[in-house]
Amino acid sequence: MQIAIDGPAGAGKSSVAREVGRRLGLKCLDTGAMYRAVTWKALKEGIDITNGKLLGQLVRDCNMETEYNDKKGTLIYLDGENVTEKIRSPRVNKNVSIVARSPELRRELVFLQRKLAEKSDGIVMEGRDIGTNVLINADYKFYLCASLEERAKRRWLEMEAKGVDVVFEDLIKEIAMRDRIDQEREESPLAIASEAQIIDTTSYTLEEVVEKVLEIVCTAKIKEHREDRIEIFHKEGR
Ligand code: CDP
Repeated sequence: MQIAIDGPAGAGKSSVAREVGRRLGLKCLDTGAMYRAVTWKALKEGIDITNGKLLGQLVRDCNMETEYNDKKGTLIYLDGENVTEKIRSPRVNKNVSIVARSPELRRELVFLQRKLAEKSDGIVMEGRDIGTNVLINADYKFYLCASLEERAKRRWLEMEAKGVDVVFEDLIKEIAMRDRIDQEREESPLAIASEAQIIDTTSYTLEEVVEKVLEIVCTAKIKEHREDRIEIFHKEGR
């Protein structure tokens, strides 16, 4: 089973994907972590982050590995180094959408993402272009959204809990800028897949969103099962 979850920053994708995956026994992949890892490395090496060719080469030259952890979500390694925490820095936040505009880079990462999906028995993959591009034939597609203020509030609370000092107004501006770049880029922009179920999470708790997703998946599964049974009955002339 493949479940695609897309949406803007702070809409709840990672937490929902992790919990839905846990309850359905599926692996999860946070594709944003891959774009963040490239951004972290490019900034560290002083590479021009607007040069797509160099960014694509950077991915080909390094060994990027992801590991799924039930509690922590997607762990990410670059040439054996665990960079999971490092890629969440304010500097990476600020630059990641600029890096993610590059078609050359996206091609490399989408290739890795599809390979991971093929290798797994089932996956919940979340990002910006999963239902519209990476897993175009996913069994279920969801688009999570929430008001800008609510998304910034969630992100601010997360950062505060980690001891990172950020000004709420700056966070609003940064998220709004990231949304705009993600929606306006030419290569697979953030968009709602035509078959996606849209869930506005503004006034829902995490548990409520998870239940909504599971209800949609399970109802569809039961319907599918009933239709299969009816077909067997017809074939057997019963
Ligand atoms: O966690 P947050 O919502 O802040 O973002 P993320 O999922 O970590 O993704 C960081 C950035 O990576 C996004 O703002 C996009 O620019 C880019 N991204 C993308 O272009 N395509 C994806 N499938 C996932 C992330």
